[in-house]
Amino acid sequence: MKAVKTLGQFIIEKQADFPYAKGELSRLLRDIGIAAKIVNREINKAGLADIIGEAGTTNIQGEGQKKLDVYANEQFIAALQSGGECCIVVSEENDEYIYIDSEISKNAKYIVAIDPLDGSSNIDVNVGVGTIFSIFRRKSVGGKATLEDVLQNGTEQIAAGYVIYGSSTMMVYTTGKGVNGFTLDPSIGEFCLSYPNMQIPADGYIYSINEGYYTHFPDGIKKYIKYCQVEDDKTRRPYTSRYTGSMVADLHRSLIKGGIFMYPITAQAPNGKLRLVYECNPMAFIVEQAGGKASNGYERILKLDVTELHQRSAIMIGSTNMVEKAEEMLACFS
Ligand code: AHG
Ligand code: MN
Ligand code: MN
Ligand code: MN
Repeated sequence: MKAVKTLGQFIIEKQADFPYAKGELSRLLRDIGIAAKIVNREINKAGLADIIGEAGTTNIQGEGQKKLDVYANEQFIAALQSGGECCIVVSEENDEYIYIDSEISKNAKYIVAIDPLDGSSNIDVNVGVGTIFSIFRRKSVGGKATLEDVLQNGTEQIAAGYVIYGSSTMMVYTTGKGVNGFTLDPSIGEFCLSYPNMQIPADGYIYSINEGYYTHFPDGIKKYIKYCQVEDDKTRRPYTSRYTGSMVADLHRSLIKGGIFMYPITAQAPNGKLRLVYECNPMAFIVEQAGGKASNGYERILKLDVTELHQRSAIMIGSTNMVEKAEEMLACFS
């Protein structure tokens, strides 16, 4: 009988990949895994307990916060605070970064950026949602970590991952040495290795974009959408269209089956909608580690300069050949 490998066992084993590591990153990943299980438990109760619907507050991006946005945010922050390895948390749901000022965190080296609940508009209708996280090492030495420690480019990430609360709950993460996926076995309460060394197919046949905004897209994006829809046996077109409203769910599908996910600039969102620090960068790191590609249409996401906590970016991400084709079409109009 094949033994299961839990996330905890896997993290400890992989510590050997970093000969000078003292186990801090491992503990941080473990803390995130525990918070994910607690959030999962609450999400599973949505509809039974009074946790669906609006919280009645608004975040800095002007989005109405759902009760579960607030709950997941509090849960992840609490786990990072009590774990002692994180000195700063950046969250979609907090205007400013949170400095963790406690005795156990006084030597903490890591900065964690989170989207506590991704696709939160899906919560009320029982469709998949997620959590996204990105981990950096602080650059400054001694004293309090600063905004400069936070504003690092995507290439500086040392780990990134997401949790998908779907028909089953999974955690997928990378520390820059490939991507591994773990499925939560509710009977034992553990994430167990289910997708070792994930590789995204270079070609895909599914495109994922909110086509409701079609008239507001740049011409290159319109041209790529039309390309996806044209019949051509050789390239297996028309492609299939799938869009859930949760980037985590849409990208998880692309990672497994191949595909492209796009959120371009629109007339309403001239810089794109998705946030670079806690949505685009971590997802770009994961997808690149799985052999795929992520760009804003012109440049690699991970190379973009980060100047603000809640900075937005356009994104096209997924199977390499699909992203390159979309970039080629954008280039026709620039
Ligand atoms: P969040 O729920 O964290 O605010 O993120 C929602 C994001 C992303 O997950 C999704 O792909 C996109 O916004 C959906 O936006 P539209 O409704 O504009 O398509
Ligand atoms: Mn939001
Ligand atoms: Mn999100
Ligand atoms: Mn969110």
